[in-house]
Amino acid sequence: MNVPFFRVDCSGQELRYLEEVLQSGWLTTSRFAAELELRFASTLGVPHAIAVNSCTAALHLAVEALGVGPGVGVLVPTLTFTATAEVVRYLGGTVVLCDVDRHSGLLTPEILEAALSRHPEVKVVMAVHFGGLACDLESLRAVAEPRGVAIIEDAAHAFPARYPGLGRSERGLVGSGASAACCFSFYANKTMTTGEGGMLVTGDDALAERVRRMRLHGIDRDVWKRFTSTNAGWQYDVVAAGYKYNMPDLNAAVGLAQFERAFEFHEARVRLAARYFEALADLDVLELPVSSVDPCDHAWHLFPVVIRPGSGFDRDSIVDRLAAAGVGSSVHYRPLHRMSYWSQETGSRPDEFPGAEHRWRGTFSLPLYPSMTEAEQQHVCATLDRVFSEPPLVETPPAPKAVAR
Ligand SMILES: Cc1ncc(COP(=O)(O)O)c(C=O)c1O
Repeated sequence: MNVPFFRVDCSGQELRYLEEVLQSGWLTTSRFAAELELRFASTLGVPHAIAVNSCTAALHLAVEALGVGPGVGVLVPTLTFTATAEVVRYLGGTVVLCDVDRHSGLLTPEILEAALSRHPEVKVVMAVHFGGLACDLESLRAVAEPRGVAIIEDAAHAFPARYPGLGRSERGLVGSGASAACCFSFYANKTMTTGEGGMLVTGDDALAERVRRMRLHGIDRDVWKRFTSTNAGWQYDVVAAGYKYNMPDLNAAVGLAQFERAFEFHEARVRLAARYFEALADLDVLELPVSSVDPCDHAWHLFPVVIRPGSGFDRDSIVDRLAAAGVGSSVHYRPLHRMSYWSQETGSRPDEFPGAEHRWRGTFSLPLYPSMTEAEQQHVCATLDRVFSEPPLVETPPAPKAVAR
C-alpha cells in the first residue's frame, strides 16, 4: 500500500462552480472571490476578509500596511516557512529570528519578552500558528502592546483553529483575535485550498483600506467594484505603487467549494489525530504533538512527531525507511537559521535556538488529510512500529538538505 503525504479532496462542488466561472466569460476577480470574502468574514466574525493570491501576498501586504521598511525590525520564529520572513526583506526591513518552545513549536510570551528586550528595533512580530496549533495570542499581546509592537498572525496552517482560553466562549476562531492582521494560506496542501491563494483578515479599517488598495496596483477603487461596476472601468486613479495580488474567480470557485466543507474536513482531521495519539501511545521513541488547546480546537494541518534524542534513530534514515515502505512524510521545518540566506542575513548560530534545534534534529510529519482511510492510517502506524523495531542506526548529525514544504 502507498500512502502519500498529502492528497487533495475536491469531491464537493468544485467542478460545478468552476464550470459556472468558465461559462460566465469572466475568469478573474469577481463574485466568487467576493462571496468567499463575505463567508470568511462572517464565519470568523471579523469586519474585513481580503482575498489574495497567496498567504505570502497577505503577509507582504500586512507588513507593508504597518510601515515596515529600512531600519524596522520584525521578529520571526525560526521554525517557519521562508515566506514568513522574506516579505520583510521585500521592503528592506530587518529580520530578527527567535526561538520557539521545544514541545509546541510555538512562540511563547517568555521568548517574546526576552527577544523584545534585546531588540528595541523590533516593531512587528510574526506569530506563527505552527502546524495548526494556535499561539496564546492574548498573552503575546500583553507583552507586545505596551511596547508599541504590532502582531501579525501567520495562520497559513490554522483554518479552522481556536485560540487557547479558559471557557468555550473565549476560544474564538483564529483570525478573530485582536492582532493587526491574520493571514491564511489556501496553497494546494493546506486545510482548504484554492490551488494558490490566501486571505488577510483584520478588524482595523485603515489597514484594510491600505491592503485592498495595494492588492491591486495601488488603484483607488476596490478590485471587486472595479471589475464589476457599471461605471467605466477606466475611471480610476493610482495612489501608490501597488502589487498584483488579487484572487481570480477560477481559484475562488474552488475555494468556495472547499470552504463549504471546511468544518467537515476539520472533523476528519481531529478524528485522524485522535487515532494517531491512540495508536502511537506506546511508541516511546516518539514525542507526540503537545497541545495547549482542546484537540478539537487544533486545525491539525500537520501531525509532527519528534524522535527522542539519544534513542539511536536518526530522522533522515527513518524518513527513508518510511518512503521505502510506501509511507510519505515531510519535515517541518529545517529552521530558517539553518538556511544559507537567513543565516548570512541574520548572522544567527544554531546554539541560539535550542527549542527549534531540538525539533529540527528529530522531527518529521505524518500523513494526515480528510480523504485518508482507516486502512491507510493503520498502514502508517504499523510501518512506524516496524521501522522503529529494526535495529537503530548510529545517530548522526542530520545533513542539511532541501525538504518539501
Ligand atoms: C507557515 C507558513 N507561512 C506562509 C506560507 C506561505 O503560504 P503561500 O504558499 O500561500 O504563500 C506557508 C506555506 O507553506 C507556510 O507554511
